[in-house]
Amino acid sequence: MTKMIILAIESSCDDTAASVVEMTDNSRRILSGCVNSQIKTHALYGGVVPEIASREHIEHISAVVKEALDRSGVSLSDIEAVGVTYSPGLIGSLLVGVSFAKSLAFALGVPLIPVEHIKGHAAAAYFTSDTLVPPFLALVVSGGHTSLYSVKTYTEFDEIGSTRDDAAGEAFDKVGRMIGLPYPGGAAMDRLAAEGFEKYPDGIGKIKFPSPAISDGTLDFSFSGLKTFALNLINTECQKHSLKDGKDLPHEVRCCIAAGFTKAITDGIASKLSSAIDMTGYKKIVVAGGVAANSHLRAAAEKCVTEHGAELFIPPVSLCGDNGAMIGAQAYFEYMSDVSAATCLNAFASEDGAQTAAEEGKDGIIRKAAL
Ligand code: KG4
Ligand code: ZN
Repeated sequence: MTKMIILAIESSCDDTAASVVEMTDNSRRILSGCVNSQIKTHALYGGVVPEIASREHIEHISAVVKEALDRSGVSLSDIEAVGVTYSPGLIGSLLVGVSFAKSLAFALGVPLIPVEHIKGHAAAAYFTSDTLVPPFLALVVSGGHTSLYSVKTYTEFDEIGSTRDDAAGEAFDKVGRMIGLPYPGGAAMDRLAAEGFEKYPDGIGKIKFPSPAISDGTLDFSFSGLKTFALNLINTECQKHSLKDGKDLPHEVRCCIAAGFTKAITDGIASKLSSAIDMTGYKKIVVAGGVAANSHLRAAAEKCVTEHGAELFIPPVSLCGDNGAMIGAQAYFEYMSDVSAATCLNAFASEDGAQTAAEEGKDGIIRKAAL
């Protein structure tokens, strides 16, 4: 049994996160976690401003890592590896985490382990049960992704379905903004929808949002039609009420829009999840990513997975959004699969960029198993 204490860093977007995890072949423990969220800063602009994000990471990363170490009860000399997100994400943000992780690993003389952000999201589910081992089906729903993966081993993910345009989280944020919710609108949309379902079921029934599940036999999604439908609906409602801005619409109307939109997204995702379970035959299903915090999606996933006689592994809400622990968990399994990084590890904004660099042997990643 190989036990490892890993310090992991995540800085791919607007959260500076660090965590210390203790991993073995059959147990996963989070010793600490610390996150500095930049939401308040970016909310002023209605979305993430990449340059500001990089600067905030630079400002906070030392304190976040120190706090994670202090809370973990272990000392720097107990750290046996440093894990870090190197792709995909905002390049300036990723570079801050990668540079910091490199320096720390180098100074401590321990391995540096590169982690893909999406695999990290799925890995958050390992903390829900020590019995979760691949193969399994993973649905990752975040601000940048809505994808279904056949997870063959701890490190091999085959994408079997994805969004052709916006991600679900992006759609939540954009529609939230149209009805006056501050960035990021996902969590506030969740609450507004809950109020809509409870108080105004008749109003919701009158709106027929299009489904984001593409009906062409694939496992792909499209959220742009749903977003345009919401925009047109909000404009029509504004005209009806002689208003200029969706934020001023009556509370009941905003609740019904949030609920109708949430229902369309959760029904669409559950329908593709159902097809994916049928197609793959997997009995272990992981649902992860920032949008997996959505209470309606959690309920829809539970229902769908139970109906298939399968078992759902969904991280607690605290591990759905970006965090260091998920990167620590995946870092352990990457290392166990003989993956580590040289000090020339680079960061990549897109999965395609990372893939091309890997094929050319220019990403700084050492894959012993591939030799
Ligand atoms: O995974 P994440 O923290 O960052 C990315 O990797 O993108 O996901 C952030 C996304 C945002 O779009 C946010 O609005 C959404 O997750 N989100 C939610 C909820 N909580 C966060 N969306 C719907 N309902 C929620 N409760
Ligand atoms: Zn994320």
